[in-house]
Amino acid sequence: MGADEGPPSTSGVPSGVGADGPDAVDPGRRKFLIATIGAVGGTITAAVGVPAIAFVTGSARTATGEEGWIRLGSVGSIEPGAAPTLVKATIERRTGYLVEEQEVSIFVTTENGQDFVLLSNVCTHLGCRVRWVEAEAGFHCPCHNAMFGRNGEVLAGPPPRPLDRYEYKVEDAQLFFKEA
Ligand code: FES
Repeated sequence: MGADEGPPSTSGVPSGVGADGPDAVDPGRRKFLIATIGAVGGTITAAVGVPAIAFVTGSARTATGEEGWIRLGSVGSIEPGAAPTLVKATIERRTGYLVEEQEVSIFVTTENGQDFVLLSNVCTHLGCRVRWVEAEAGFHCPCHNAMFGRNGEVLAGPPPRPLDRYEYKVEDAQLFFKEA
């Protein structure tokens, strides 16, 4: 022990920190501490950041693997001019390593077998489920007695906007939709 190192600390002050304050820390030791803190910080960032990026970029996938499009079924099952057909689909959502399945129900209509209308069955007022009423040729929401037309337009009641529409495409006689 050299004369200028002084006695071991007994006052709660870490050894190496002298009366001159933290600036008195040995330069080599400071570099070691900075490198250690940097390495620990990098490890924590990687552990937290990778699942967060997966959450931001995660989205539904179709059976074909193309992101965003979800197969709903055969276009042949939708009869032109008929009452809306309620079709259910399961959306797979990935959040990091977690996979969550969510079921959606979509009313599908077509007048000519080529152009389709895909409507959400969720009322745009407060989110109740609408149902098709053949006698009134419209969708009825039982919560506040609203009515929507065949194409989702508001006919009566408090909903602020039409039923939400889904984007769709037809490939190989299969109907695909994209999340609204
Ligand atoms: S939730 Fe449908 S009318 Fe209010």
